[in-house]
Amino acid sequence: MRSHKCGELNTQHLGQSVALCGWVHRRRDHGGVIFIDLRDRAGLVQVVFDPDAPESFSIAESVRSEYVLRIEGIVRDRPEGTHNSNMATGEIEVLGKSIEVLNESETPPFPIESEIEVNEEMRLRFRYIDLRRTEMQHKMKVRRDVTRNLRQFLDDKEFFEIETPYLTKATPEGARDYIVPSRTHPNAFFALPQSPQLYKQLLMVAGMERYYQVVRCFRDEDLRADRQPEFTQLDIETSFMNEQEIMAIMEQMIRRLFKDIIDVDLADPFPVMSYSEAMRRFGSDRPDLRIPLELVDIAEEMREVDFKVFSGPANDPHGRVVAMRLPEGGELSRKEIDDLTKFVGIYGAKGLAYIKVNDLAAGVEGLQSPIVKFAPDDVWAKVMAKVGAQNGDLIFFGADKAGVVNEAMGALRVKLGLDRGLLDGDWKPVWVIDFPMFAWDEKAQRYTAIHHPFTAPSCSIEELKADPGHALSRAYDLVLNGTEVGGGSIRINRTDMQQIVFAILGIGHDEAREKFGFLLDALKYGAPPHGGIAFGLDRLVMLMTGAHSIRDVIAFPKTQTAACPLFNAPAFVSEEQLKELGIKLRKPTGKDEKQN
Ligand code: AMO
Ligand code: AMP
Repeated sequence: MRSHKCGELNTQHLGQSVALCGWVHRRRDHGGVIFIDLRDRAGLVQVVFDPDAPESFSIAESVRSEYVLRIEGIVRDRPEGTHNSNMATGEIEVLGKSIEVLNESETPPFPIESEIEVNEEMRLRFRYIDLRRTEMQHKMKVRRDVTRNLRQFLDDKEFFEIETPYLTKATPEGARDYIVPSRTHPNAFFALPQSPQLYKQLLMVAGMERYYQVVRCFRDEDLRADRQPEFTQLDIETSFMNEQEIMAIMEQMIRRLFKDIIDVDLADPFPVMSYSEAMRRFGSDRPDLRIPLELVDIAEEMREVDFKVFSGPANDPHGRVVAMRLPEGGELSRKEIDDLTKFVGIYGAKGLAYIKVNDLAAGVEGLQSPIVKFAPDDVWAKVMAKVGAQNGDLIFFGADKAGVVNEAMGALRVKLGLDRGLLDGDWKPVWVIDFPMFAWDEKAQRYTAIHHPFTAPSCSIEELKADPGHALSRAYDLVLNGTEVGGGSIRINRTDMQQIVFAILGIGHDEAREKFGFLLDALKYGAPPHGGIAFGLDRLVMLMTGAHSIRDVIAFPKTQTAACPLFNAPAFVSEEQLKELGIKLRKPTGKDEKQN
């Protein structure tokens, strides 16, 4: 149908006859001459119709935005002074000879202009229109480039791409499962995989040695800007490689990706940081290392002070007291500090103490804060020295259970860093290692796995049994600019170790057999040492395109409430279907109710 793409025409095509297909981006009537900006995936080109060809001219007069056209014409230079440097094809135009309307269009619900803000619900409801916008076409292209680049790398390294089932049994990754009723097995349900974790481990037992898959994962969890109920992983597993070897090859893959796609040189090698250091300095296991602010522990200094808010947590083994220095923060207004206090409240902080450093040389006289009176001068002098305070700074304080302080002060650190433009460098990857194996769930009074229950500990069975709370795992996360883009580990490849870990997690012998019997069996048949990682593909593309949400790099994402406004899914099913599945609804609801 066409000889060229609109967006690729340039001065090399001058004088050539071309046939183009595309959408009417804009149509302008300029006193007897009609300009149509024709758009295809490659971009825009200006087509001119003049009254010399009356038949085409009258069709051109009748077309509207988003009509689909096929035009034939001749590429010509734009007249002097009408070159458009904002347009890739701005030096030329096409003199239209014939025009055919391939299809008409109703007025679109919103204009196809990247600059115009459109409500997200509308964008998702008319996603096929939204995806026509240049910006979205670009994101889809980067996504294609990213997966192609990653596949190429892994293919070259002799990884096999192997597909694993979507209709399966629960694979725990810490979220709720999406379940699918089975018609052929009444009362039984499949679960959609939270990840292909167990399949990829079985592929290692099966001697595949190097596996990868660009694969959809399903997790029913609270949604955020970087979380979707279904999302894509680049899922990887290898045999006979230790964590250093796996991290090295993965780094190589990610460095190559950033260089090829967005011409960014990431650090070589990536820095590595222990979980405990990350928590201590940044209050987070996914530290944004572009932000130069750090938490400084001052519990030691605060044990004896008169201020219970500080001395309480300072003397509590589960408590934490930190200071964080904001250079030149003294200029913050009372209102700004009140807003920050509200902000940390979201994370459970009961307050946000602060000191304005007016004049260090003047001792406590030079410190401005309602809390200065609660501690002796020498304590403040020590704290100021410890945080490296300078005149003009603001020092924030957090005191509470360690979990609350880490969450609140970690989030405050990121907020201040971003809001005040304190970023040091554009791209800061870091491997976080030496995670604890387990976290203690106070409410449920049991341990939960920090990664998944198949992650190997870095100690022996005996040591693990003796002190599960202090055992570290052989897991590693890749963090980029404060986003966890990947996570993996060396796996348990022995039945006895796997059983102990299940036992520590409170999964009894019978439950373990019922849920994971196939794994426990497989580990008995020569399971090689193995390990792997999974990258959040949507998150990588989000970071690489500068998108604010992974919804922007997924063609058909779900909303914040895990629904699809385009298909209107999820939806009710017919009574007949339910009957066939042997399902009776506990809360029968009318279809009409749902649709509103
Ligand atoms: P994990 O649960 O850490 O590990 O997931 C790996 C990566 O997937 C991305 N991710 C998500 N992206 C979008 N929406 C979500 N809801 C979501 N959840 C996770 C993150 C994360 O780093 N089986 C293990 C991997 C392994 O051990 O090899 C796993 O799934 O970027
Ligand atoms: P109060 O004596 O409760 O008015 O608190 C004095 C200062 O300490 C105020 O600025 C509070 O915001 C702050 N504050 C209270 N609780 C905490 C806490 N847990 N961590 C840090 N600062 C706090």
